[in-house]
Amino acid sequence: MSDPQNYIDTSIGKFQNELFDLLRIQSISTDTSKTPDILKAAEYLADQFREIGMDAVQIFETSGHPIVYAEKCLHDDRPTVLIYGHYDVQPPDPLHKWNSPPFEPVVRDGRVYARGASDDKGQSFIHIKSVESYLQTGHELPVDVKFLLEGEEEIGSPNLVPFIKDHQQMLSCDMVLISDTAMYGEDQPSITYGLRGLTYMEIEVNGPNRDLHSGVFGGTVENPANALAGIITQLVDKNGRIQIEGFYDDVKPLTDSERKAYKKLPFDEELYKKDIGVKQLHGEKGYSTPERASGRPTLDVNGLWSGYQGEGAKTVLPATAGAKISMRLVPDQDPKKIARLFTEHIQKISPDTVDVEVTEHHGGYSVIVDLDFYGIKAAARAFETVYQKETLFSREGGSIPIVADFKKVLGADSILMGFGLTKDALHSPNESFSLKDFHRGIKTSAEFFRILPGYSMD
Ligand code: BES
Ligand code: MN
Ligand code: MN
Repeated sequence: MSDPQNYIDTSIGKFQNELFDLLRIQSISTDTSKTPDILKAAEYLADQFREIGMDAVQIFETSGHPIVYAEKCLHDDRPTVLIYGHYDVQPPDPLHKWNSPPFEPVVRDGRVYARGASDDKGQSFIHIKSVESYLQTGHELPVDVKFLLEGEEEIGSPNLVPFIKDHQQMLSCDMVLISDTAMYGEDQPSITYGLRGLTYMEIEVNGPNRDLHSGVFGGTVENPANALAGIITQLVDKNGRIQIEGFYDDVKPLTDSERKAYKKLPFDEELYKKDIGVKQLHGEKGYSTPERASGRPTLDVNGLWSGYQGEGAKTVLPATAGAKISMRLVPDQDPKKIARLFTEHIQKISPDTVDVEVTEHHGGYSVIVDLDFYGIKAAARAFETVYQKETLFSREGGSIPIVADFKKVLGADSILMGFGLTKDALHSPNESFSLKDFHRGIKTSAEFFRILPGYSMD
């Protein structure tokens, strides 16, 4: 009987090929023309669960994209781990910036390039293969596991919150295990203990009833593009302070010990600048780059449109202008309250010469995980066994809104055991994932399952 860790080493080629098959499926959640691919990805995962010997495999329909569930629950006296991940991906555009097609995985320098390679197909697949290493070698899985894989994470998980509320019994667990974050550096095992929240808004500015000749009408009417630019420049001051009234009211300040921990992070500012190709960094005055990246709230324009965008010049005074604006939030900001404050502020600073409409997209709460939780300790230890290096704990700037709901609805803490890297280029062209970390990730997950029962009894 082969040992699970051994099975992982000898099966890694098969595991990679199976992952590549998943990466070929264009499961883009925002794109309604890709619904058949979303279903295909869900079916593929359900097939995987059946193949490795999971029980209660089911694809749950929702009013949006389906949720895939599977479990292996054999004990009453062992911890139950709910493994969450998402099989939907971001759109691949701009397509012309990819060095190889986004849905045709290729390996270069030990990394697989494809949309979803890291976020989150490659990372969530790790745990399926880890469970397989027990079930297919005839070894008893040391813990109970439940998988919950959704297809709507990248669009704000609109159907997942109602789903977990309706299936609390089925999803009851002692902890949630998630691999959908990054490590703090190469070969650096890391556990993320904080994520930022999010409020995502849209502004539309309407002026005249049609586009106008900018010579004939220029100078007599407010230009919606100019008006919108004026609004946007008033939202953040030159010190990086957000100007929305009440925005900072509920922000929990960084404590001295947190600031000390931030200082200790192995952060290389030169490398950081080089990686993204900027001459100089920019952010809120009084805070370091690592603090700005995960410990402080932000406001950013994510999209901006108006007027003529084609080749050459067209003299036109556009009738409308629009912007998508997101704010990253920290504890204890309430995304709904921030949306209200934003709307009120925009209405207050908008000129009377145009109509300004503000609408709200998705959002989510920030989270901080308790580092004393035994699951975190076991996860850190498992990481150390495989990576042979001390685990680092850090907060991250991205958001996984469902994490706050897991705590609220199921009462479960989440373990953010990420195997990605900043250079994976999530949401960007040429997304990739290290195959070495895919392999080490599976080993870490299997080791985590092995040692977890011991930690739960302490
Ligand atoms: N996996 C990311 C979140 C992430 C990335 C956390 C890197 C920490 C480090 C997730 O898929 C994501 O992109 N989330 C969205 C939020 C969602 C509501 C669209 C995000 O952060 O923009
Ligand atoms: Mn993700
Ligand atoms: Mn993402």
